[in-house]
Amino acid sequence: MENFQFLSSTRIIFGKGTEEKVGHEAKKYGSKVLLHYGGGSIRRSGLYDRIVRSLQEAGLEFLELSGVKPNPRLSLVQEGIKLCREHKIDFILAVGGGSVIDSAKAIAVGVPYQGDVWDFFTKAAKPQEKLPLGVVLTIPASGSESSNSCVITNEEGSLKWGMNYNINRPTFAIMNPELCYTLPPYQRAAGAVDIMAHIMERYFTDETHVELTDRLCEAGLKTVINNIPLVLADPQNYDAWAEIMLTGSLAHNGQFGVGRVEDWASHRIEHELSALYDVAHGAGLATIFPAWAKYVYEKHLNPFLKFAVRVWNVDQDFASPERTALEGIKRMKTFFSSIGMPVTLGELKIPADRLEEMAEKATSRGPLGNLEKLYKEDVLAILKSAL
Ligand code: NZQ
Ligand code: ZN
Repeated sequence: MENFQFLSSTRIIFGKGTEEKVGHEAKKYGSKVLLHYGGGSIRRSGLYDRIVRSLQEAGLEFLELSGVKPNPRLSLVQEGIKLCREHKIDFILAVGGGSVIDSAKAIAVGVPYQGDVWDFFTKAAKPQEKLPLGVVLTIPASGSESSNSCVITNEEGSLKWGMNYNINRPTFAIMNPELCYTLPPYQRAAGAVDIMAHIMERYFTDETHVELTDRLCEAGLKTVINNIPLVLADPQNYDAWAEIMLTGSLAHNGQFGVGRVEDWASHRIEHELSALYDVAHGAGLATIFPAWAKYVYEKHLNPFLKFAVRVWNVDQDFASPERTALEGIKRMKTFFSSIGMPVTLGELKIPADRLEEMAEKATSRGPLGNLEKLYKEDVLAILKSAL
């Protein structure tokens, strides 16, 4: 087990009706709120009205910035920073999924910073202060509601880059599983894949003596595998959503990765897909993760064997561990298909003509991954095998 430090400072407020408390919670940190949200799902579901009522009842002033797109854009972040400065906003409230939360995180650290907020993504600067940030989560997927990371797309150059600092962690996150009832099936499934991917990026390591976190990861994976079919069949299954929502946060607050060497190559490759083709992050991962696994498993049989046997109930073939490991990867891919996710680039309508460009961009800041270091040719081979 590696040495580690771990801090997850976000206060989680979980359960039915908890969004009604948002005004009361926000008031502890500010008096003038930026209400940040996406393309309108919160208006259609009626959540917007409940949030506004709660803010008003708490006597909070607020200003709105809507229009966050999936794969959130730098230009809107910059608009948000300007707005906050002009109106002396002292608290940001993100109501939505990973895209809204990440946009809000970037605004939160951008307001007190004199330079260009993109500096944090290029690592030219490190965020030192921020506006407090609250979240009302509407889709279990990114884990951004309690993660240390923030992923933004700079339209100039189609660069989808992330920054990871503890300062990014939201002050509080309200998580009511009932808010998931309105999610379309595709978003339900894409969210599930993303949660599983966050666990698998941590699970696939050669690190030894990490049994506890191995088991935590396996529990998280099995919880998603067992519960996502239930919410696909019945979007109002509160208990199944509660399991998924809780797993989504734990999958990415860092706890499952303590003491391990995490990988993250699949995420970095997927970010190239969503930067160029604007695909849903989870759907992109469903095509990349199995292709990555097939590319690296032979040199790292141990974690893939455990994955096959413990997560996918594969009977171990003692004569051929390779066959057992491969069967696990195959079952993951079949599962992604069974919940309606694409498993090839073709299904995502991504043609073969820009694979080289994506491989080049993905590795422009150095090789990817830790389980196996991946260079441009490796990434290209993975992309080709996902076609
Ligand atoms: O924009 P609206 O109208 O709200 O619609 C959204 C959006 O179209 C819709 N939606 C969300 N909640 C809904 C709903 N529709 C009906 N009912 C609801 N309750 O779902 C669509 C997708 O939303 P989005 O926020 O984009 O989804 P997700 O949470 O999957 O976030 C994806 C983004 O997060 C980043 C991804 O790269 C991507 O940009 N990630 C962020 C991470 C982090 N900060 O820790 C880690 C992840 O690995 C990931 O990279
Ligand atoms: Zn992800």
